[in-house]
Amino acid sequence: MSARDWTLICQVQEIPVLGSRRVARKQGLDVAVFRNDRNEVFALLDRCPHKGGPLSQGIVFGTSVACPLHNWTIGLCDGQASAPDEGCTPKFAVKVEDGQVFLDANELTTQATDLTRPIAGPARRGPHAPPLRGSLPPEGADPAWGGPAPDRRVSSPLPLGAG
Ligand code: FES
Repeated sequence: MSARDWTLICQVQEIPVLGSRRVARKQGLDVAVFRNDRNEVFALLDRCPHKGGPLSQGIVFGTSVACPLHNWTIGLCDGQASAPDEGCTPKFAVKVEDGQVFLDANELTTQATDLTRPIAGPARRGPHAPPLRGSLPPEGADPAWGGPAPDRRVSSPLPLGAG
């Protein structure tokens, strides 16, 4: 078994407490990186297992996030919906070292890249669908990302390899 290859994402302090940042990927939906009030960091695909809601815009409490669309509770450790709801969103390995947040490079490029937002969900992202507001930067745009949005505890996606 080979050692993991980690990609630096950001500083822990750059993730709002009880909020998240999104990490844009070359392929697939964004990854949402969450921080709770104990400064623990978690990463899930930014897609609710119910109807694809953007978990990055949910409210973090303990080790869970409440989906902003229909209020399902999703576990941040495993991506599992809390009973009686059923479903799971892919989780991503996270490493925090010296206040820096890393994600597994292999998972970022290969994990759940085939998943899209359900057509019946709030939005979908495909090659011909309009981007979600405030989501992926336009093709060729400067990948620099801004600070956290104050109202929904979510911000522009981080480009891979930021920092
Ligand atoms: S889409 Fe998340 S609870 Fe419905």
